[in-house]
Amino acid sequence: MREIAHTVLTQLQNHRKETQDRRITDLFSADPARFEGYSVRCEEVLFDYSKTNINGETLECLIELAEAAGLSQKRDQLFSGHHINVTEDRAVQHMALRNMSNFPVVIDGQDVMPSVLAVRAAMTAFSKGVRNGTIAGQGGAFTDVVNIGIGGSDLGPVMAAAALKPRCDGPDLHFVSNIDGSDILEVLEKIPPATTLFIVASKTFTTQETMTNAQTARDWLVKALGENAVADHFIALSTALDKTAAFGIRDDRAFGFWDWVGGRYSVWSAIGLSLMLAIGPEDFEEFLAGGHAVDRHFQAAPLRENMPVLMALIGIWHRNACGYGTHAVLPYDNHLLRFPAYLQQLDMESNGKSITLENQAASTQTGPIVWGEPGTNGQHAFYQLIHQGTSVVPADFLIAAKPAQAIGDHHEKLAANAFAQTEALMQGKSAKEVEDDLRHAGMSEAKIAQLTPHKVFPGNRPTCTFLYPGLTPFVLGQLVALYEHKVFVQGAIWNINSFDQWGVELGKELAGELLPMVKGEAPAENRNGSTVGLLEVFHKMRGK
Ligand code: F6P
Repeated sequence: MREIAHTVLTQLQNHRKETQDRRITDLFSADPARFEGYSVRCEEVLFDYSKTNINGETLECLIELAEAAGLSQKRDQLFSGHHINVTEDRAVQHMALRNMSNFPVVIDGQDVMPSVLAVRAAMTAFSKGVRNGTIAGQGGAFTDVVNIGIGGSDLGPVMAAAALKPRCDGPDLHFVSNIDGSDILEVLEKIPPATTLFIVASKTFTTQETMTNAQTARDWLVKALGENAVADHFIALSTALDKTAAFGIRDDRAFGFWDWVGGRYSVWSAIGLSLMLAIGPEDFEEFLAGGHAVDRHFQAAPLRENMPVLMALIGIWHRNACGYGTHAVLPYDNHLLRFPAYLQQLDMESNGKSITLENQAASTQTGPIVWGEPGTNGQHAFYQLIHQGTSVVPADFLIAAKPAQAIGDHHEKLAANAFAQTEALMQGKSAKEVEDDLRHAGMSEAKIAQLTPHKVFPGNRPTCTFLYPGLTPFVLGQLVALYEHKVFVQGAIWNINSFDQWGVELGKELAGELLPMVKGEAPAENRNGSTVGLLEVFHKMRGK
């Protein structure tokens, strides 16, 4: 963090110290219009942050921090194609993929929109062909599509296909990501080779998991249908089009993208093809349009009304002023089952850094641990800790006004639970309220004294709520882009590079070294005692 921003951060931390005992409920008592003042809309999405411990002064200080960190300039650099990913010397322009305007997007002196639109047109033609059966496998129209990819080449399409499940009217979609053989075997067991399309999704086309799974799928297909079937049954999504042909993929079945699209930002690119096959090109365009609407809002709205900026600033308040270490994402929307996992990569791979852009050790905490599960399931698992544990966990709640599939009063009950949890977390329940309840129930004074401390809820636990009419492709596009820009804003304030991921390399390297030892082809030399011991027992357990 730079000097001036650091000074403002210190002010923010002092402000936190001074307001340590402030109750969110008191902020509501002091300001009856707090909901209007501390909620913001962007197209279909309402973001309510009134149930956080933030007032006008806090917000002023946070906005000052954003300005001191040069947020507006950094945002301009992002959108104008600067190589802000400095360690990889790349621009960051996934927004071009959802650019629905006629404006050019220039990277390194060239308008990239013609290439973006050409790939999207090729994806659309291919999707239409597969969906109407004019592009088919050796056994006829494709009934099944298997996306083989990992990380950003998996999580985006997996999350979005689950989110838009009611819209999935194309071939059955399967995802294989893990190198654990069970992942692919369990898919291969249930699909017919003659009508299955395999998508090898890999930005680099070198990732061990994906290339191993792709080779296994290829061997399986060749065994069933012969070598010639590969050209009809395999397609590739990659920036490394030089490598896809060697795998046997036809040039016109290789859909490209560019190095200015980070893996965890690639669902908008050709990597989204499995999603497009499932929901159709029109819905896919709606998804892009939702993302584009957020891009326009992020660029144009004043910071005080800018949804991703506010999301980021609230996160900074919780992380750097309040010292909260994790952030929960709690969708009251079963179709958003994989949204927390998707956000884990987006947030933790982007902002899990400790070196600044000036090559200094970060002097503040950076990205929090992101986690979550859909409600109401979480309520019967980990909410105990959120309500009464010693750690405060700021949480995002997400809920649609209308259900994707209506049945009885399920949705009203779901919504009541979501709103109730945010209320309970904020209000808590005092010892006096607990005692009154117990007395009213006729409990003895001795029992009341024993039980009361266990039934007290401290409250004052912050939550934000996203409310939208229904989980349409447009709304999903908005939600994803909102979190993307939130992550960008936080990275800008922490002065880190949110767009590289060197932290994933060492493990990959060591796995490469260890593989011959695991296979028993090389002795376990020069390793630490634990690894040597584990390898020895591993081999014994395998009877070798
Ligand atoms: O290991 C991390 C990572 O590089 C992610 O950033 C990326 O999304 C994933 O691996 C998959 O990479 P690829 O698309 O090149 O196979």
